[in-house]
Amino acid sequence: MSTVARQLDTSELEQRVKRMYEEVALEPEREFHFETGRPLAERLGYPPADLDRIPAAAIDSFAGVGYFLDLAAITPGETVLDLGSGSGTDSFLAAVATTEAGRVVGIDMTHQQLAKARRLTAEAGFTQISFRNGYIERPPVDEAAFDCVISNGVVNLSPDKPAVFAAAARALRPGGRLALADIVTAAQLPEGVTCDASLWAACIGGAMQRDGYRAAIEAAGFQIETWRQNTEYRFVSERADNATQKYGVTSISLLARRS
Ligand SMILES: C[S@@+](CC[C@H](N)C(=O)[O-])C[C@H]1O[C@@H](n2cnc3c(N)ncnc32)[C@H](O)[C@@H]1O
Repeated sequence: MSTVARQLDTSELEQRVKRMYEEVALEPEREFHFETGRPLAERLGYPPADLDRIPAAAIDSFAGVGYFLDLAAITPGETVLDLGSGSGTDSFLAAVATTEAGRVVGIDMTHQQLAKARRLTAEAGFTQISFRNGYIERPPVDEAAFDCVISNGVVNLSPDKPAVFAAAARALRPGGRLALADIVTAAQLPEGVTCDASLWAACIGGAMQRDGYRAAIEAAGFQIETWRQNTEYRFVSERADNATQKYGVTSISLLARRS
């Protein structure tokens, strides 16, 4: 089942999303519809002392929408899958938590994000992390291989959210956790917004109505244990902010458990 309106050209959307996050990887200092970097991460609640333990250049390209690693509560020796890992901020923080006794796999479809994350991993000597090219709807990983699936600001970009949640459930062992931050809406977005590829790539156009979003997670075999709204996240361009106000576009963090 696709959650996207008929008029949206999904291959054009994929190209737009890739172009936008290629720029986030290569030129993080540029202005986007959304904030990026360490000031954003700290405002969202990432502890500065944790950020000090990972490569600064990864954080420069951080484009997440909320803090959720407290909900993930990753422990040494665990296996973690990061869907839409970008330049790697959450993967690196997860790797600090798993220690070398565990393993972290990041998946992303944008070549420049992967290249940056891989380079920083090698430079910083994080032997427990690997980054793979792939789609979050069908990540190239084994079934039931992970204790925890994480994701930040990515599921809203997918035109097929039920496929993403089903893939997360498949990747998790029974009892495994899904912990993420994402964008959802109070009201269903009209087609004028959902069919605007630029608003979609900015993490607004693809945002799902929150009850439908919760239902899609539960339909994949999860129980939602925590759901919280992140008031610290805001969009920066006027266009993005207008859509945000009108349709109740908000950031949330959640923890769900696979039965
Ligand atoms: C908003 S950024 C967030 C990156 C990272 N999680 C962070 O917090 O900085 C979204 C990332 O998801 C990737 N992405 C979007 N849709 C994807 C898909 N369907 N499959 C794989 N990666 C995807 C993009 O390439 C981009 O790197």
